[in-house]
Amino acid sequence: MKSLGYLEIRELFLKHLEEKGHTIIPSSSLVPEDNPSVLFVNAGMFPLIPYLLGEPHPGGVRLANSQRCLRTIDIEEVGDATHCTTFEMLGNWSINDYFKEEALRITLSFFVDKLGFDINKISSSVFKGNEDAPKDTESIEIWKKLFSERGIKAQVGERIRELPKEDNWWEPEGGGPCGPDSETFYEIDGNLVEIGNDVFMQYLKKDNTYSPLGKHNVDFGGGLDRLAMICQEVPSVYETDIYLPILKKVQELSKEHIVRSHRIIVDHIKASAWIIADGVVPGRTQREYILRRLIRRAIRHGRSLGIENLFTRQVAEIVINQFSAVHPLLESNRESILNILEDEEKKFNQTLGNGLKEFEKTFRNIKEFKNENGETFRLYETYGFPLEITLEELTSRGIDYDEELVKKNHEKAYEEHQEKSRTASKGLFKGGMADTSEISTRYHTATHLLLASLYNIVGPHIYQKGSNITTERLRLDFPNDEKLTDKQIEQVEDMVNEQIQKSLPVIFKEMDKEEAMKIVKYAAFEDKYGDIVKVYTIGSPDSPFSQEICGGPHVENTKDLGHFKIVKQENVGAGIKRIKAVLE
Ligand code: ALA
Repeated sequence: MKSLGYLEIRELFLKHLEEKGHTIIPSSSLVPEDNPSVLFVNAGMFPLIPYLLGEPHPGGVRLANSQRCLRTIDIEEVGDATHCTTFEMLGNWSINDYFKEEALRITLSFFVDKLGFDINKISSSVFKGNEDAPKDTESIEIWKKLFSERGIKAQVGERIRELPKEDNWWEPEGGGPCGPDSETFYEIDGNLVEIGNDVFMQYLKKDNTYSPLGKHNVDFGGGLDRLAMICQEVPSVYETDIYLPILKKVQELSKEHIVRSHRIIVDHIKASAWIIADGVVPGRTQREYILRRLIRRAIRHGRSLGIENLFTRQVAEIVINQFSAVHPLLESNRESILNILEDEEKKFNQTLGNGLKEFEKTFRNIKEFKNENGETFRLYETYGFPLEITLEELTSRGIDYDEELVKKNHEKAYEEHQEKSRTASKGLFKGGMADTSEISTRYHTATHLLLASLYNIVGPHIYQKGSNITTERLRLDFPNDEKLTDKQIEQVEDMVNEQIQKSLPVIFKEMDKEEAMKIVKYAAFEDKYGDIVKVYTIGSPDSPFSQEICGGPHVENTKDLGHFKIVKQENVGAGIKRIKAVLE
């Protein structure tokens, strides 16, 4: 294996593609132009959608680049060996030009001939077919041929795996050109790491249905950081030359040694600098809020590491030095990036400081905490002290609490507050841009629709085992032995969207717990409810679509939810499945 720097890997990729007749195009901004379906560009193909649909590209029909991307959907996984929120995706595209054989040949040749990967450690996967599209037998034959040209007899089920839609089908969020894909893997210490993905775009997804695109496009993507990790034979992306200087700086500033916190700071400050370079400032809504969250999360981990002074500027300096050669906007915006970060850090420190004082008063001499008076919400509302930090503080002081109960009471206090302010502002404004709490409110209601749909489609054994909502997605855990099939996922999505389109009212009624338990079909934490509970009903009270005991908050009508989409299904063990879904 050649030990290549990440700049060399990028260069080798672009040269390889140039040799094969591709025009090298620049990376677009992280902020999508004229396409509101995502907040940030999350794949190299995203800025090319109009061309993949048929508009002529000035660079011709063969294109390649290294595109900066941002994915927040897996933010909780950042800190392991391979997940980052921002990364560069090496990409090449055929716009109705070459197809599967040439695409896979280009991909394999890059890994083996240019990067020096061991062919014996390479394997692939292809789409096994479903009701929307047939099995990709063509790619199976191509892989056999490509391996055999390099002296390897590849078998289906071993070196070439046939996998279902959730693994081997790719489509952009919000629909668009899509199709089966073929992934390439590299074996490291017995684990298979995905190193590239060739998507064969022959379909168009619109309004949840697939139709032929009338073109045969190829969309290849491969994460530069993972390739660097393999070439440099290091155990995580953070030890590659992409991140190492930043990691060293964070380690130098820290008093404690917590690997995950180090990595989170490296990732989040890097992501924040990139986002600011593309013109976003921290704020309360959408993109601005994601930026704010990244900065605040980094600062919070800085505290866990015992960093007492302002530090984001020092880390960001290294980030800017590190990436300026390939991302010139970082250098040209150096001062404003540093200042914006530091201002936000000061503001947040102030918030944390005030909150901590109040915290001392609230929790002095307390051994067990139930949040009965919505104390956590008051800390948040008055002092900006986020719930997750309150929970961490409670833990570090050895105060006992039941997380579900504390959260439930937090939401109850929040909802009471919302109702008061709703009444106060009634008639003052209609619509407008959703603020972050409105976004989470929509996700709360969508979770009820999802649960009721799962109950109807998958079976009466479904109930809510766990739920977690952020401004980007909902997450629901429920018992089921098998993963849902593609068809079930689609039926569930359709059922939720149908309820949204029906503009159903969402109402609640307070009642005795006993009375409530008689009317709801499923309840999660029975013993934790108080004697008087709220039952939320979606749809007509005579034949409701959903009825659940819940503290809220919820939207008033399902029409406010937008379009619902399941983006991920996972097995979380012990017969529990997890769904992540977004509202678009
Ligand atoms: N667009 C494809 C992906 O992101 C290449 O995996």
